Amino acid sequence: VGDDDFEKGVEAGASDYVKKPFDRGELRLRVRNLIHSHESDRRYQALFKGASQGILAIAVDTQEIVMANPSICEMLGYTKSDLVGMHLSDIHPREELVRIQEEFNLHTKRERVLTYDIPFQKKDGSLLPADISSTVLSIDGALCAIGFLTDATRRHELEKRLREEEEQHRFFEAELRSAQKLEAVGRLASGIAHEINTPIQFIGDNLRFLKDSFGTAVELARQYFGFVESAENGALSEDRIAKSKKALEDADIGYLEEEIPVAVDQSLEGIERIVSIVRAMKEFAHPGSKEKAPTNINKLVETTVTVSKNEWKYAADMKLALDSSLPQVPCIAGEISQVLLNLIVNASHAVEEKSGQTGNSNKGLIAISTTSRDSFVEIRISDTGGGIPMAIRDKIWEPFFTTKEAGKGTGQGLAIARACIVEKHGGTIHFETEEGVGTIFVIRIPIGTN
Ligand SMILES: Nc1ncnc2c1ncn2[C@@H]1O[C@H](COP(=O)(O)OP(=O)(O)OP(=O)(O)O)[C@@H](O)[C@H]1O
Ligand SMILES: [Mg+2]
Repeated sequence: VGDDDFEKGVEAGASDYVKKPFDRGELRLRVRNLIHSHESDRRYQALFKGASQGILAIAVDTQEIVMANPSICEMLGYTKSDLVGMHLSDIHPREELVRIQEEFNLHTKRERVLTYDIPFQKKDGSLLPADISSTVLSIDGALCAIGFLTDATRRHELEKRLREEEEQHRFFEAELRSAQKLEAVGRLASGIAHEINTPIQFIGDNLRFLKDSFGTAVELARQYFGFVESAENGALSEDRIAKSKKALEDADIGYLEEEIPVAVDQSLEGIERIVSIVRAMKEFAHPGSKEKAPTNINKLVETTVTVSKNEWKYAADMKLALDSSLPQVPCIAGEISQVLLNLIVNASHAVEEKSGQTGNSNKGLIAISTTSRDSFVEIRISDTGGGIPMAIRDKIWEPFFTTKEAGKGTGQGLAIARACIVEKHGGTIHFETEEGVGTIFVIRIPIGTN
C-alpha cells in the first residue's frame, strides 16, 4: 500500500492494516492488539454508559456539548441527541451564567479547579445543584472539558435541614434563657416585695409619730396664743399660767426636738432604699439593649446584689470589693446580670446547705470583687459553702445537671452562664473549689471593642 491508500483506509474506518506480503507472526500480533483495543474500548463504553455519575464533555473552543452519558441525560431530563450540540449556556440558569462561564474559562486554562455546587438547569426549567469534578483532555483532536457530575440535591437538603435545626436550636436556647430569667424575676419578686415592705413599715411608723407630734405642736401653739392674748389684756390668771405650763410639760419638747429629725431622716432613708430597689428591679428586668453596649460592671453587680438580697441575706453576709477604676466593658447587660444572679443564688444555696449539714447557724460569707487586667475585666464570686465535690466537677456545666431538689434548682444556671460568657462575650468562666472551704467562680470578659 502507498501512503494515499493508508489515509483512505483510515478515513474509511480501518483500525489498523498489514502490508502484503504479511508475516504470520506480525499478523497474529496485530489481530490480538485489535481485539484488545476493541475490548478496552468496550470497557470504556460500558463505564461511560453505566456510570451513575453524569459525564459530560464540552468542547473548550465552542462550549458545545460533544458527549453525554445516560446518567447526565436522566439528571437533566434530556435525551442524548438533545444534549449533544447544546451550548453551555443552555444547561445553566441565566442568572449564574456569567460566573459559570468565567469558571469554565479559568478551568480550561487550567488556572482553577472547578468549584463545588454548580447549578444546572433541567429541561423542565427546574434547577439541579451538582458537584463537579472536571478534567481537560483532547478527544478526537479537540480540547474538551470532561465533567463528572454528582447530584447535590440531597446534600443541599441535608445542609438546609441542618441550618434550620441550628436556627431552631438557637431559638430554643434563647427561649430557655428568657424562661429562666422570667422564673428568676418571678422568684425575686416576692423577695423584693419583702425588701420594700421593711422600709415601708418604718416609714409608716415614723409618719404616725410625726402626725401625733404635729397634733402636740398645734396644741402647744394654741396655748401660746391664749397666753399672749391674756398677757396683752393684762388678764394673765394663775389658772392660765398653770395650763400653759402643763401643756409645755405634756408636749415634752426635748423629746420631740430629738426624735422628729430622726424620724424624718429615717423616713427619707427608707424612701431612698425603696427607690434604689425599684431602680435596680427596673434595671434588672429591662436592662436596655439586647446588643452589646459599654457597660459599668460594678453597677450590674450592685443592682443584682440588691434585687437578690432576700435570696442571700438569711444565709450569708455580702461583701463587695469593686474596683472603682474599672473600665466600661462591651456586653449585653441583661445577660451578664442574669449570670451574676445565677452565681449569687448558687453561692447562697451552697452556704445554706453547708450550715444545714454542719448545724452551725453562723452566717456564711459571699464576696464579690471586680478588677481589671490588661485585656479583660475579672469578676470573682466566692462563697464559704461546702465546695463542689470532686465527682461532679466536670458535670456542673451540663444543662439540667443539678444536685438540688425539685423546685430549688433545675440545673440550667451554669449552662446558661457558660453559654453567655464564652459564646456570646468571648470570655471565660471557671471555678476554684475546696471541699469544706468554699468555691470561687471567676468570670473574665474581654475589654476589646466588640
Ligand atoms: N457555689 C457552688 N458551691 C457548690 N456547688 C455548686 C456551686 N455552684 C454550683 N454548684 C453545683 O453545680 C450544680 C449545677 O449548678 P447550676 O447553677 O447549673 O444548677 P442549679 O443551681 O442546680 O439549678 P438552677 O441554677 O437552674 O436553679 C448545682 O446543683 C450544685 O451541685
Ligand atoms: Mg444555679
